[in-house]
Amino acid sequence: MGLFITIEGAEGSGKTTVCKKVTDKLNQEGYKVLYTREPGGVKIAEQIRDIILDVKNTELDARSEALLYAASRRQHLVEKIEPALKEGYIIICDRFIDSSLAYQGYARGIGIDEVYEINMFAINHRLPDATILLDIPPEEGLKRINKHRGFEMNRLDLEQLSFHLKVHEGYEILKKKYANRFVIVDANQTPEKVFNAVYDIIIKKCKEYQLCNNSKNI
Ligand SMILES: Nc1ncnc2c1ncn2[C@@H]1O[C@H](COP(=O)(O)OP(=O)(O)OP(=O)(O)O)[C@@H](O)[C@H]1O
Ligand SMILES: [Mg+2]
Repeated sequence: MGLFITIEGAEGSGKTTVCKKVTDKLNQEGYKVLYTREPGGVKIAEQIRDIILDVKNTELDARSEALLYAASRRQHLVEKIEPALKEGYIIICDRFIDSSLAYQGYARGIGIDEVYEINMFAINHRLPDATILLDIPPEEGLKRINKHRGFEMNRLDLEQLSFHLKVHEGYEILKKKYANRFVIVDANQTPEKVFNAVYDIIIKKCKEYQLCNNSKNI
């Protein structure tokens, strides 16, 4: 079996940036590694996401939305993640169950435990082997998003701002609640430092799971 790593954190925390760098480095070092994010190019998972994201679906209920996310997640898991794990791959997954817990469960108010339950049914208890949380003060995350979008800080409306703060609070709860699975990385550092911290955590996990790169196998 391979190693299932998920990367979590609020918008702008630097997940995609670090995922790509870490995947490239592991590849160069001869590890079998796969970067993915939901819906992961899986046809049915994409069709489900289209329903969620369709702006015409204004009557979509919050719980229906959470169930659809869970269904999409399952399809991505069984079609893409689990087969790769069986082949011994390290999976670097950009957001997974904890995003639903923080966004739908906490920030949207459905309840973390409620959303956890339906997701447990969906993933059939296949939790990540480790979840790396990119921890960033909310105002720093917002600065990055705005810079990225070319907006001034004050262009963000109040609803967006309070939602962003809620997501951050949600992750604060999750890191305490699932302390065994979560590894926290200070994301308010240079991209190089964040990369080094994340890479070190994954290499440690590889050793723990007795995963070797090609050069060591020879
Ligand atoms: N350590 C860092 N320091 C400063 N800026 C960073 C750092 N890491 C990433 N950035 C920049 O912040 C912005 C957001 O980064 P990125 O897209 O990786 O975040 P994300 O967590 O994937 O966001 P989303 O949840 O929206 O997908 C980008 O412009 C990126 O270049
Ligand atoms: Mg991203």
